[in-house]
Amino acid sequence: MDLDQLAALRTPEGSAALAAAAEVAGGDPLTAAARLRSAGFPAGLAAAALTQAELRRRAAGKFGPEAAGMFLTRPGLEQATRRVVADRRAARLRAAGVGTLADLGCGLGADALAAARAGIRVYGVEADPVTAAMAAGNAEAAGLAELFTVECGDATAFDVTRVEAVFCDPARRAAGTGRRIFDPNAYSPPWDFVTGLADRVQRTVVKVAPGLDHALIPAGAEAEWVSVAGDLVEAALWCGALAEVPRRATLLRGDSAEMLTGSGDTTHVLTGSGDAEAPVGAVRRFLYDPDPAVVRAHLVAELATELGATLADPSIAYLYADTPVATPFARCLEVTDVLPFSLKRLRALLRERRVGRVEILKRGSALEPERLRRDLRLGGDAAASLVLTRVAGAPTVLVCRPLPG
Ligand SMILES: C[S@@+](CC[C@H](N)C(=O)[O-])C[C@H]1O[C@@H](n2cnc3c(N)ncnc32)[C@H](O)[C@@H]1O
Repeated sequence: MDLDQLAALRTPEGSAALAAAAEVAGGDPLTAAARLRSAGFPAGLAAAALTQAELRRRAAGKFGPEAAGMFLTRPGLEQATRRVVADRRAARLRAAGVGTLADLGCGLGADALAAARAGIRVYGVEADPVTAAMAAGNAEAAGLAELFTVECGDATAFDVTRVEAVFCDPARRAAGTGRRIFDPNAYSPPWDFVTGLADRVQRTVVKVAPGLDHALIPAGAEAEWVSVAGDLVEAALWCGALAEVPRRATLLRGDSAEMLTGSGDTTHVLTGSGDAEAPVGAVRRFLYDPDPAVVRAHLVAELATELGATLADPSIAYLYADTPVATPFARCLEVTDVLPFSLKRLRALLRERRVGRVEILKRGSALEPERLRRDLRLGGDAAASLVLTRVAGAPTVLVCRPLPG
């Protein structure tokens, strides 16, 4: 997609092509192209409209119904923040009194749109001309063009004294290949610039990869890990006056109701220091498998306190307790058997119990679950959960029963 093709899509004929493409998207691509051409749309416009329609279909899971009116690129969509996460961040910025915000590297505008929806005046800067034009188109389609404006340029040159807060979600994929970048020094804008923002602007938020090394968290910043429906999706650094606690795990359910209402009642937050250590003891009757946001935020010790639980190995994030406690922060399983790992013994036990279906969880084990499943040669009607782990350093398998809820 180039700027001319995008401009053509934004004409009345382009809108008609997009509407026609939306009706045929998802089916056979050749038939869809033929349908648009037989309706009189030029081949170039038809192809651009069909690409947009396909991307909009894919974007619905991330953005909800709003996706149907958005302009998208494949890399822009892959890097965009999903709506539940962006809305929550925007609400927190608004609650902190932020009225004007710069989004430095705004991409297609998912975060900026959320901030504008929350009533914040957003100045987006985007280096890629087509992405910048799409972000402006997305602001217009959402009826937010007065609150979210976009300039095409280098974010590092933006005068941050113009705004009360800055947000930066640096590109973590190589331009051209689209490959993921793991080294923060290779982010764009670069890491030095991104972390230096906090020295220049009192209220700075940076979105980072969830795998971020804790050693890179700037002193005094709050690091937040976010999961949606149990999937770890991102981390964010809240700097300066926005930092409230050292570490935070935010769990969002992320269903469509939450997406439409932005309601917070399906959100769960755990906070703490990130450097506390949970007590270690024996395997107990109930095992808790913490949400990945809790684990990555190093808040397992805080969760252990809430649950009255202990670890069975100081380096493995499974918690154990004598009673089951309902918690949104972990999945709970009842441990029925604890075996030192031995394929033979495990196979014999599962045969005796007539277990034919297993789910396999693991932490601290090098075993490959699918290979183990094959090697177990299961047969029977019963189901079980197998947890491959270490207990006091020894490879161990726990046979478990999931608890409802
Ligand atoms: C991860 S994406 C932003 C996604 C956005 N937060 C969203 O949710 O839609 C990063 C964007 O920064 C842009 N970018 C990278 N370096 C830049 C720079 N120096 N100036 C302006 N934009 C830049 C990239 O083109 C890319 O679109």
